[in-house]
Amino acid sequence: MKKYFSILVVVISFIPFSIKSYSQHYNTLAAQNDSLFPKSIPALLMSSNGSVIKTKKEWEKIRRPELEQLLENEIYGFVPVGNVNMSSKVIEQDDNALGGKAIRKQIKITFTNAENKMVSVALLLYLPKGLKKFPTFLGYNFNGNETIYPDPMIQSSPVLNGNNKQSGRDSLNWPVATIINAGCGVATMYYWEVAPDKEEFTTGIYPLFYKPNQVKPLPNEWGGLAAWAWGLSKAMDYLQSDKQVDAKRVIVLGHSRLGKAAIWAGAKDQRFAGVISSGSGAMGVSISKNKKGETLSAVIKRFPRWTAGNFKKYLNQDANLPFDQHMVVAMVAPRPIYISSASEDQWADPSHEYLSAYLTTEVYALYGYPKWSYQAPKIQEPIQGRVSQHIRDGKHDILPYDWNLFLTFAQRELK
Ligand code: GCU
Repeated sequence: MKKYFSILVVVISFIPFSIKSYSQHYNTLAAQNDSLFPKSIPALLMSSNGSVIKTKKEWEKIRRPELEQLLENEIYGFVPVGNVNMSSKVIEQDDNALGGKAIRKQIKITFTNAENKMVSVALLLYLPKGLKKFPTFLGYNFNGNETIYPDPMIQSSPVLNGNNKQSGRDSLNWPVATIINAGCGVATMYYWEVAPDKEEFTTGIYPLFYKPNQVKPLPNEWGGLAAWAWGLSKAMDYLQSDKQVDAKRVIVLGHSRLGKAAIWAGAKDQRFAGVISSGSGAMGVSISKNKKGETLSAVIKRFPRWTAGNFKKYLNQDANLPFDQHMVVAMVAPRPIYISSASEDQWADPSHEYLSAYLTTEVYALYGYPKWSYQAPKIQEPIQGRVSQHIRDGKHDILPYDWNLFLTFAQRELK
């Protein structure tokens, strides 16, 4: 009895000590660093019961699942339970695309529910020829598959968001030839085909999961970001089934709202070998607390469709959040992650994108990767490692400068 009592005393005295020392740790960081550093930011390496996470095993068994549940419950929403099957069919293939350097494939992915309701999404793929091991970048496009590259053989996506669909109009954002020349592949889908980006939930994938008379997801179910992330995982299901793809080296990537979807997809689905989130800002990789530019409340007001209905309770609660976006970033550990920003993109807030990258490195340190010391991030001075980050000079965009760094990152980290 006496023995158990002394064990209890030891345990009880240890708990408050660890909580205190952990919050002290954060406060010391906050004091040492500039005013950007938000004080009460939730700790990554402390579980909800107050115990400090010290090993990768504790991270994987305790903290990571806890974060996934928290973020799914509070922000993104759960994928509804439903009887939805997926099938895929290669509808076009050219083994001599891009002047003989690439294989182009166009795949029709079809989702069917128990009532035979169907939704199809087109996946466009360019793969480098003659390689067995190579990274493939998978990400949504904003305006239709035909807009990513001026290849007349790309089948037109349906006109859903009313944007100009001129062939190759977004080719600056998708340097397909450079990607292929670097020995990498690229896979893309038009995001509206999976879930519409408007305050309406009766098209795209949503209705396939509805009970009779239901017209929108339940309050704890997915908003757009989780629906798009789900679509990326479904594309991954296809990539795993395609023998010409190196599915162990797929990097999920996205820009802006699609960067918000990409980071959640990569956080949840550990089949993605790496993640690149470009200019994702609010509800992407930017820390919400004390954020400049677009705030969490601004996202709730302008884009309620992106997150779960439950998330609306955080309107005007930006200062009191029990979570923050570094948690999403940390869920990617120990896989390679690249966070890219642009100097004039104060709406996304590059310094708070950096902050997430910085905070996350303490999780990567559990796996033996270096923990960063905090330094005000510098423009055009990329930090290259397992956690990589840069701030490009210029505006909110994803440009050849960014891609060159992404290609080096992919080749280095997914050797
Ligand atoms: C708006 C929105 C951002 C978003 C961006 C985009 O600017 O406020 O949160 O990232 O659109 O997706 O282009």
